[in-house]
Amino acid sequence: MAETMEGKVVGFSVAKILKKDRLGKLVSKSDIKSEEVTSLYVDAHYRGNNIGAMLMVKTESFLKKQGCMHIGIRIFWPNKNAHGFYKKLGYELYNATYIKEI
Ligand SMILES: CC(C)(COP(=O)(O)OP(=O)(O)OC[C@H]1O[C@@H](n2cnc3c(N)ncnc32)[C@H](O)[C@@H]1OP(=O)(O)O)[C@@H](O)C(=O)NCCC(=O)NCCS
Repeated sequence: MAETMEGKVVGFSVAKILKKDRLGKLVSKSDIKSEEVTSLYVDAHYRGNNIGAMLMVKTESFLKKQGCMHIGIRIFWPNKNAHGFYKKLGYELYNATYIKEI
């Protein structure tokens, strides 16, 4: 969680640790742990102040200590902001999903 000096919550990150890496080719040992960030949110009034980046740095550091070696983040494809943000933080596009109503 990210808070102002006054204790107001202005952002948060939620992640789950997976026992086995879901990223296919990145797995080299069966006991490798990976993290999936399921939610990252910064209050619209506070965006552009490096809060999202700080939340990700803290999340990465915490999960590294837990033994995680990779982070996977699934985003809604049209969310252009998220693409730009994660690319800026050094993430690479790895997967895509096509869907069709049947
Ligand atoms: C995506 C989100 C978390 C970014 O938070 P933020 O606090 O505004 O981002 P930061 O200020 O930490 O930005 C970190 C860096 O990424 C860059 N960045 C942010 N958005 C960007 C974008 N759309 N395109 C390119 N770069 C971007 C910033 O310029 C900054 O780089 P800099 O330090 O060199 O200037 C925020 O916009 C948000 O909560 N969006 C709604 C929820 C969402 O889409 N979550 C992600 C999906 S899980």
